[in-house]
Amino acid sequence: MTKQKLVVGNWKMELSHKAATDILNSMKKMMNGSKFETQVVVCPSYPQLPQAAAILKASSLEVGAQNIHYEDRGAFTGQVSIAQIRDFITWSIVGHSEVRTYIGDDDEMVVHKAQMLFNNGITPIVCIGETAQERDAEQTVEKVTRQIQTLLASIPRTSFTKLVIAYEPIWAIGTGVTPEPIQVAEVLLLMRKLIAGRFDEAAANRVRILYGGSVTADNIGSYMAEPGVDGVLVGGASIHPRDFLSIIEAVEKS
Ligand code: PGA
Repeated sequence: MTKQKLVVGNWKMELSHKAATDILNSMKKMMNGSKFETQVVVCPSYPQLPQAAAILKASSLEVGAQNIHYEDRGAFTGQVSIAQIRDFITWSIVGHSEVRTYIGDDDEMVVHKAQMLFNNGITPIVCIGETAQERDAEQTVEKVTRQIQTLLASIPRTSFTKLVIAYEPIWAIGTGVTPEPIQVAEVLLLMRKLIAGRFDEAAANRVRILYGGSVTADNIGSYMAEPGVDGVLVGGASIHPRDFLSIIEAVEKS
């Protein structure tokens, strides 16, 4: 069975309501009529989710959140629960390094959020990756292994094969500094070995693993050429509809 490739756009906190609406409309228009096999998800900020769901309803684009809170409701000022947004999304990123850094999510919290998303019928996109210091200290294998093992310890096979993992070396996010494609392939191979060790080869091959970190229309080809790369998580380039479309086209062709 061939896996459907996946492109996810993480809009972060970059756009005004008007800019987000304009981009949603132009993406819908640009995607109209093109029959991509690649699955495409955009992740706007919370206030834009109802709008995104409405605009993209009859399109091939899907909507995701950038994060979610770990409780369904309660006294959590400034937070947003799955229950509040589940009508608008089918995906959610969890464990993005910016959320780990600024909000303090750790590996256990990320697993908990992934489980909650599954319970609500929403597919988690779980971000994993090492810092520059960890890479320099040759601790990439250790860090990635720990993060994957925490997921493997709590998520059963049936769910695990449905989730999406995004390998995002933290030092490559928003920096324009990118890993060699072969380095990405090595980490993805490690992830699949760990998954196969816990479940089996079939499960390891079924999980979709994306690369993320300064992906552009220019460098996408080299990452998609590596074995085991099932798509990309795109930040900066995803808020420019033409660039994003070029990335989708490159993934489609790969
Ligand atoms: P970037 O962001 O493409 O701007 O590096 C990627 C991400 O944060 O997911």
